[in-house]
Amino acid sequence: MLSGPNLDQLGVRDPSVYGLTTLDEHVERVRAAAAPLGLSVRHIQSNFEGDLIEAIHDARGRSAAIVINAGALTHTSWALTDALAIFPGVKVEVHLSNPAAREPFRHVSTLAGVVHGTIAGFGGLSYDLALAAVVELLAD
Ligand code: DQA
Repeated sequence: MLSGPNLDQLGVRDPSVYGLTTLDEHVERVRAAAAPLGLSVRHIQSNFEGDLIEAIHDARGRSAAIVINAGALTHTSWALTDALAIFPGVKVEVHLSNPAAREPFRHVSTLAGVVHGTIAGFGGLSYDLALAAVVELLAD
């Protein structure tokens, strides 16, 4: 799991959009759901684009899948997009909110073309649905 800028502020950040659940709570919920399926979850959050790019490089050969909520970098980062394109495993883009229903700058995802799919708009459930997608795609 990769989390981009400002997602460390979940719980205090705009609760009407993102809810009150903290990022750690989302990660622990996914981890608990993944464990009985034989999947372990490593999570990295950074407010710095380069850290996320290096985490994606580092995932090659050690992680079967990447679930990424890149925050606002979703809408701007061709460098993150290029890094994800190199990763050979399963890739799922996640958003708590539904960017398509928000401000116009959020309507574009640079990542969308290099991931298997995108899950957005379901709050914390987006992460649970992403795990379900990973499980299905890995089974394929
Ligand atoms: C977000 C949506 C992005 O537009 C925003 O910049 C975020 C969070 C989401 O999870 O809904 O930081 O990725």
